[in-house]
Amino acid sequence: MYVLFFFPLSLYFQTGGLFWKVETGRRDGRISLSKEIDANLPFSNFNITQLKQNFASKGLTKKDLVVLSGAHTIGSASCFTINTRLYNFTGRSDTDPALDPTFASELKKKCKPGGILPVFELDQGSSTISDAQFYKAVRQNRGLLISDAALLDDHATRAYVKRQSKSAAGATFGRDFGKSMEKMGRIGVLTGSEGEIRQRCAFVN
Ligand code: HEM
Repeated sequence: MYVLFFFPLSLYFQTGGLFWKVETGRRDGRISLSKEIDANLPFSNFNITQLKQNFASKGLTKKDLVVLSGAHTIGSASCFTINTRLYNFTGRSDTDPALDPTFASELKKKCKPGGILPVFELDQGSSTISDAQFYKAVRQNRGLLISDAALLDDHATRAYVKRQSKSAAGATFGRDFGKSMEKMGRIGVLTGSEGEIRQRCAFVN
């Protein structure tokens, strides 16, 4: 059984529309431990090898990696997140050479060393529209995160970025994104007597 989920639900029509099926029958966990984050989530300073390993550990391919990174077509990242990339990339007060120098200067005007705010659009100029513009930015070395830029460092992910960046809608991005989201939804599913069905979504019963 499926329900349809729009990305994010209330923003579907506003953002231009990515959608996918959500399989039902999932139960929520009862505990959430911050110490489990490091071993499970990818970090924005990961290189392509680390990203591929992290995704593979969850049964996701490098195609899923490049497709799901396309979620950065909307939303923002803070000055804090990109600070090292701008000011201390290798520990020698340097800037990531993979970042377009003009873009780096623009960012530095607003994001000072050690700064936390402001936030920057992950997909500059198009962060409220879910389209393939993100891939165009990555291709032009204007991806905000190290992990976004890293998509150019593998033959297959680079080829995907190139293909999708050729049109605003992306050659196959919308369809691919739905498929990879469905796959991601199958990671670590709790069924049967595991976990619980919450009475209120945000709280353990
Ligand atoms: C490939 C590995 C990924 C890394 C390293 C990563 C990292 C990040 C980071 C560091 C931020 C900005 C946080 C901040 O500064 O506040 C961010 C934002 C975001 N990420 Fe990812 N992400 C990844 C994959 C994904 C995936 C798979 C999705 C969803 C399918 C996703 C959806 C988002 C969204 C929507 C935002 C914007 C949030 C907002 O504006 O509040 N990301 N990501």
